[in-house]
Amino acid sequence: MVNVVSKRRDTGNIPPAYPNGWFAIEESRNLVVGQVVNVSLIGLNLALYRGEDGRVRAIDAYCPHLGANLSAGGRVLGNCIECPFHGWKFDGDSGKCKHIPYADNIPDVAKVKSYTILERNNFIYIWYHAEDNEPSWMPPEVDGLQNDSLDYDGRSEHYISCHIQEIPENGADFSHLSQVHGPVIAAGTDLRFTYNKFWQFLEHCWNGEWKALSGDEAHIGEMKLTHSLKIFGFKLSFMDLKVTVNQIGPGIVYLVLHTFLGDCYLLQHLTPMEPLKQKLVHHIYTPWFSPRILGKIYLFAEALQVERDIMIWNNKKFLAKPCYVKSFEDQMLSKHRRWYMQFYSKNSPKITFRKDDLTW
Ligand code: FES
Ligand SMILES: [Fe+2]
Repeated sequence: MVNVVSKRRDTGNIPPAYPNGWFAIEESRNLVVGQVVNVSLIGLNLALYRGEDGRVRAIDAYCPHLGANLSAGGRVLGNCIECPFHGWKFDGDSGKCKHIPYADNIPDVAKVKSYTILERNNFIYIWYHAEDNEPSWMPPEVDGLQNDSLDYDGRSEHYISCHIQEIPENGADFSHLSQVHGPVIAAGTDLRFTYNKFWQFLEHCWNGEWKALSGDEAHIGEMKLTHSLKIFGFKLSFMDLKVTVNQIGPGIVYLVLHTFLGDCYLLQHLTPMEPLKQKLVHHIYTPWFSPRILGKIYLFAEALQVERDIMIWNNKKFLAKPCYVKSFEDQMLSKHRRWYMQFYSKNSPKITFRKDDLTW
């Protein structure tokens, strides 16, 4: 269904394919010392490996000698990677070839491009920048993961067929909260049926505001939300939940649920696999002393609500000039659009389509 939609819909006047920023490209536990994996995303094809010193390196996957793929059979030797075809050995930090088994002279051009990698909060991030600029900000550490006061309670993974900008825009979209996320989660994810009569006695209510931070934190958009539950129109105050949602650059969101047991963290990572195909991964962490089921419930509720958004995203087109009305809600959307522009630069890759079928 998703693929069919992505080929046939009107794609609108669409922004560049990949914004600049940090993107999660792998989860730490999936890459042990000495392991190499292939990663294909953000228009890159990478060999990602963990050296014997425990650090992760990412280089272009194709060997400059004869084009073998270093991630298909390449061996990690020390902190270098050896090509499986003729044994050239590359240093993953500089990308330079360090050893050719049958030649003494190593030409300067014998090198691959290497990328800036950061491992944090159990994710491996790559810094993507269309002009190859150095990172201008860093993903923040989550204290509870450093001092082990938070426990991991599970993950979810979704693939979405839309432009990457559509997804963060949701974080400043207040009028969709009651429309899409108002019906109780028991009403399911299919928007054709979420307003069914059976569940209408229960309703999620959302209030909040969005703002762009400033100075060193100008790459962060912050949404403060209050969630409450209504039963037959009466608010159950004891069910109120405050949520802080920090959109950190285009690919990272920290949702902090301020619960009666302490703060729970939903770490959301959005990574472009292709120009109009996004991977969305959530990890949930809750206080170590809380019942493990708590994290699972929050993760389930989040995944279910996101699947309602996905039905919209998979089928909508990107409107460069939306028809806003004079309102707090649409003002937030337009503010978010202006804020998001900072993640594009002159060389950000444009999306072009074949005229006959709109594929790229
Ligand atoms: S293709 Fe890599 S060493 Fe020959
Ligand atoms: Fe949403």
